Amino acid sequence: MDPINILEYEALAQARLERASWDYYQGGSEDETTLRENRAAFARIRLRPRVLVDSSVIDMKTTVMGTPVSMPILVAPTAAHGLAHPDGECATVRGVGAAHTLMVVSTVATRAATEVAKAATGPLWFQLYTHRSLEVTARLVQRAEESGYRALVLTADTPLLGRRERDLRNNFELVNDVSFANYRGEMDHPDKDRHRFDTWETVDWLRTQTKMPLLVKGILTAEDALLALDHGAHGIIVSNHGGRQLDGAIASIEALPEVVEAVAGRCEVLVDGGIRRGTDVLKALTLGARAVLVGRPILWGLTVNGAEGVHHVLELLRAELTLAMRLAGRPTLASIDRSLVKLS
Ligand code: FNR
Repeated sequence: MDPINILEYEALAQARLERASWDYYQGGSEDETTLRENRAAFARIRLRPRVLVDSSVIDMKTTVMGTPVSMPILVAPTAAHGLAHPDGECATVRGVGAAHTLMVVSTVATRAATEVAKAATGPLWFQLYTHRSLEVTARLVQRAEESGYRALVLTADTPLLGRRERDLRNNFELVNDVSFANYRGEMDHPDKDRHRFDTWETVDWLRTQTKMPLLVKGILTAEDALLALDHGAHGIIVSNHGGRQLDGAIASIEALPEVVEAVAGRCEVLVDGGIRRGTDVLKALTLGARAVLVGRPILWGLTVNGAEGVHHVLELLRAELTLAMRLAGRPTLASIDRSLVKLS
């Protein structure tokens, strides 16, 4: 029987994956407080629906950083899809293309960014973890640009990995033919070999290395949003890395309003973390996000049914968002505004 929501995909994926892979995908850092908060914070937000609005026609097509997408739901960068499916990111990208939205491909993908681009039928952005050698980093960025990636996402919240205790307990490592393809030959292990600590100067430098628009991912405060603008970032992704970095960090949906307020329309603001329902997407749009990204649910779909599973997860979210917009009396993206939420 087909899953009727993405939480059913979660249960099916858990049953299929080896324990260590499941824990790697699912886990957060330390006490997993932020991981839980990402969901709990959505549950605290209540909607104020309007009635007797003609919602027969729903339009959710939009653009993000100039990239056209069929809905404001994108795929977040997540590492190591090869644990979920033998084709790894090449399977994921087919499912994402079928849903006519965009995928942010991780630096620590198990397939090379160039190979993923060949398998893609829709738009791609590239997520960057810098290498300690700027030369290697620049090559990686150039390769992404040359193979058609349309934006660069610098992940700023990961100077070091958070303490993910499930992985420590499992002695988690990528094995056999599942390994990090982008740095093959240049770096044995991205977590161990990276080091260099990025600063705002990294953002300045990156802007000189590419014509792609640059987004900074992992911002949770108004202060950093303003710095991102000062340093010429073209977009911001409000994120706590799915609760995998600083435990105790604020839920990303709670950080979103202050970032949106600080930015005041000067760049697009996206958000990820804990989005599991169409109503979560609606809440994020209401609080000023241009679009949302989903992380783990894509890995569940990929585990359960490859590219089709990824496509189905995205279609379930689209169907739920369509229904939520109808029930809220907000048939267009433009009609979704702050009056739709009551924060308590
Ligand atoms: C991530 N995330 C992540 N982020 C990033 O910028 N580069 C990466 O390589 C990864 N890798 C990664 C692996 C796994 C298994 C997970 C679960 C997450 C974070 C990701 O982009 C996103 O911020 C969160 O996953 C969003 O939260 P949800 O949707 O998983 O709750």
